[in-house]
Amino acid sequence: MYPPLPYNVLLIGFMGTGKTTIARALSKKLQVDWVDLDRLIVDRAGMPITEIFETQGEPAFRALETQILEELSEKTGMIISCGGGVAMQPQNLPLLKKGKVILLTASPYTILRRVSHRNHRPLLQNRMNVPAIKELMEERQPHYKAVANIVIKTDGKPVSAICAQIIKRLYPTRLQSNVKVPRS
Ligand code: S3P
Repeated sequence: MYPPLPYNVLLIGFMGTGKTTIARALSKKLQVDWVDLDRLIVDRAGMPITEIFETQGEPAFRALETQILEELSEKTGMIISCGGGVAMQPQNLPLLKKGKVILLTASPYTILRRVSHRNHRPLLQNRMNVPAIKELMEERQPHYKAVANIVIKTDGKPVSAICAQIIKRLYPTRLQSNVKVPRS
């Protein structure tokens, strides 16, 4: 058992860095609730993200994103996977900073491999190539880094290793399960 978290843990980073996958695995490991911000937006809007962008525009999506983030930041103890644009909106920064912010990173090559078979991301629709992903990533990276408490590279790592790295940072003084304690 891990002690309860007195804050929310928010996973941020570029599209395809594994925020949802890691958040789900981390919540299982720590036995705490996990919520996915994009999922909550879709549920509340009653339509997929691509449709929100098409029919109401990106500003409407961002307004809903901030509203739900605001609601979530009134609670603690949850793992929250955020969409890749959350840290780009200045009004979201104080809300993110109320929790522990974990930035997941991956190279543009890794991102392309992970996202190219999916078409639910409006901002990648005309960017399914390494130079375009790299350009958007370079524009966003300083914003991600400015709000992150912990930065974890995900390239070539299994989900379990990424979770273990995060847990080590969240509970630095706790003995990790792979540490052998000598018998006295
Ligand atoms: C976005 C990332 C998406 C989703 C929306 C906008 C972005 O989430 O919130 O399409 O601006 O980077 P993922 O990062 O989970 O793909």
